[in-house]
Amino acid sequence: MNPHLDAVRRLLLSARGEALETKRRRLATAERILARAESSRSCHPAALPVGTLVGGWVGGGGPAHPSGFRLQASAVSHARPRVQRKATRQPALADVSGLDDVKRALADRFLLPLSRPELAGRYRVRPGGGVLLHGPPGTGKTLVARGAAGEAGVPFFEARIPEILDKYVGETEKRLASLFGRARESAPSILFLDELDWLAADREEESGAVIRRLVPLLLGELETAAGSGVLVLAATNLPWRVDPALLRPGRFDVVLMVGLPDLAARRGILAARFEDRPLSAEVDLGVAAGLLAGATGAEVAEVAERAALQAFREAVETGREEEIGPAHLAAAAAGIVRSVSPETLARHERFSRERA
Ligand SMILES: Nc1ncnc2c1ncn2[C@@H]1O[C@H](COP(=O)(O)OP(=O)(O)OP(=O)(O)O)[C@@H](O)[C@H]1O
Ligand SMILES: [Mg+2]
Repeated sequence: MNPHLDAVRRLLLSARGEALETKRRRLATAERILARAESSRSCHPAALPVGTLVGGWVGGGGPAHPSGFRLQASAVSHARPRVQRKATRQPALADVSGLDDVKRALADRFLLPLSRPELAGRYRVRPGGGVLLHGPPGTGKTLVARGAAGEAGVPFFEARIPEILDKYVGETEKRLASLFGRARESAPSILFLDELDWLAADREEESGAVIRRLVPLLLGELETAAGSGVLVLAATNLPWRVDPALLRPGRFDVVLMVGLPDLAARRGILAARFEDRPLSAEVDLGVAAGLLAGATGAEVAEVAERAALQAFREAVETGREEEIGPAHLAAAAAGIVRSVSPETLARHERFSRERA
């Protein structure tokens, strides 16, 4: 169940004085808005304010419903405070634990010139250009890209390379041009291209021909983007497969490795996840983070989720609020399978060193 839809459903049911038919129609509208948000990757449903959905029926055509609105607002704040708080803001760089080098490089390249436009202009330093983020799955590449956009307060465009590729001549070109065009119109902005390894130089299959057409176009777009305030962030788990033509100066010429979180970063991820959950005072997050060496950021986050779920299950069984305790964390940590091998990590490190 989508938490937003759940919140909307509660609000709807609690609104008095409305015919059931009207309520049904408004719920259907909310469902449509959510479905659209979920299918468009540039607009994550978690970023959709509940207010937008509520607005879908309060303002949408029918007469405003002031008493209903009061009810709705209080239902949201009592029933689902997290939904409301999360919904009001995009991730920022502060939500990314660790990865200090990556955050600093993005700040230098984009945030600083944006914050000091006149000075940056005197030095002819322009926000934008191409940056490649590489690292194993679940290390925070997408999060850091969204965080940079949230931090700068600029529009964020997102596409996966396989979504752009199309076997019909012309279609791929159109999609790429339209994506970069929209990003340029909204500049300063961030354009995030995921799964860049699809653009491997040695693809044999049918897609090979499309890719050979796409790479030069992308090179052209990158050169224009650099001068027009668009930061093009690309991400890949397999940087060694990316066509080297894309990595030359003036293209994706900044290469940043997004690796595993260190002890402090793992502790930070856990702390953020437990911020407004009933965590026992007996839990030492440093100790818990110590159990998770070698885990990705996503795996550390998953441990927190599993521990909370277990404590919740116990609360349902006992009928009392059970705090999340050291045993919940230890059990969750023991159940996590580490997806990144030392060899994979070493290969990413080698790639970064060779590009530095
Ligand atoms: N450094 C981090 N700080 C905080 N949370 C993190 C971090 N790394 C990962 N996470 C958590 O893991 C989730 C998944 O991370 P994300 O989607 O950014 O990984 P990714 O590197 O893009 O993976 P993939 O290569 O599979 O696309 C994040 O939404 C976040 O909850
Ligand atoms: Mg990702």
